[in-house]
Amino acid sequence: MTVTADMAISLDGYIAGTDVAIDNPGGDGAEPLFEWIHDLASWRERQGMTGGKENRDSELMREWFDATGAVVMGRMMYDTGEEFWGDNPPFRAPVFVLTHRPRPTLVKEGGTSFTFVTDGIHSALDQAKAAAGNRNVDIAGGASTVQQYLREGLIDELQLHVVPALLGGGLRLFEGLGAGRRSLEPVRVADTPLATHLKYRFVK
Ligand SMILES: NC(=O)c1ccc[n+]([C@@H]2O[C@H](COP(=O)([O-])OP(=O)(O)OC[C@H]3O[C@@H](n4cnc5c(N)ncnc54)[C@H](OP(=O)(O)O)[C@@H]3O)[C@@H](O)[C@H]2O)c1
Repeated sequence: MTVTADMAISLDGYIAGTDVAIDNPGGDGAEPLFEWIHDLASWRERQGMTGGKENRDSELMREWFDATGAVVMGRMMYDTGEEFWGDNPPFRAPVFVLTHRPRPTLVKEGGTSFTFVTDGIHSALDQAKAAAGNRNVDIAGGASTVQQYLREGLIDELQLHVVPALLGGGLRLFEGLGAGRRSLEPVRVADTPLATHLKYRFVK
């Protein structure tokens, strides 16, 4: 069982723009983080659309979809994504949402469910592991959620899709992790005109 995190990030380290809100999901200035994704065939397929580009970026996106058996996310990512994902969200797997605000489980089309977890990151991860079968658990975001799992050393593999843009402000991924070195070994670098895809494994 591998616990992954897979994030689009600007060269200056931001995973969202400024002023993230329900009606401003990625925050101001975040477009470059996500625009490389929209034309990928594998992404479009998960949104119920046809066509799109079959390229290396699309392959890497498909690899993530195929490998992921359950997902953990924060309530802000959920709240900002809920309307966009609609009745058939792209995850097609059980999703565990960290929150202080309980809500009944939602079962959507295509294999996605959203279970709202109020008893902390370990509980959410345990539930996701139990649901993932022999596939990975992905800690999908946002910043606060990935930071909590990084801080506790609970992530095995980290993939960063580094987009060639400086955002200048927004939500940083690598913040509040506490002092102390964490060593990583490079697993793969895939370089395309759209993004540099860096995959690392934490050395435990
Ligand atoms: N670049 C990327 O690849 C990527 C990927 C995913 C998301 N994002 C972006 O990330 C942004 C959201 O990130 P974020 O850091 O603001 O928020 P987040 O991590 O999505 O959610 C934070 C919220 O989750 C709940 N929560 C988190 N940890 C908890 C815990 N241990 N116990 C109980 N509740 C907990 C709290 O909500 P409540 O107190 O309200 O319940 C908290 O305010 C969005 O803009 C999204 O677009 C980017």
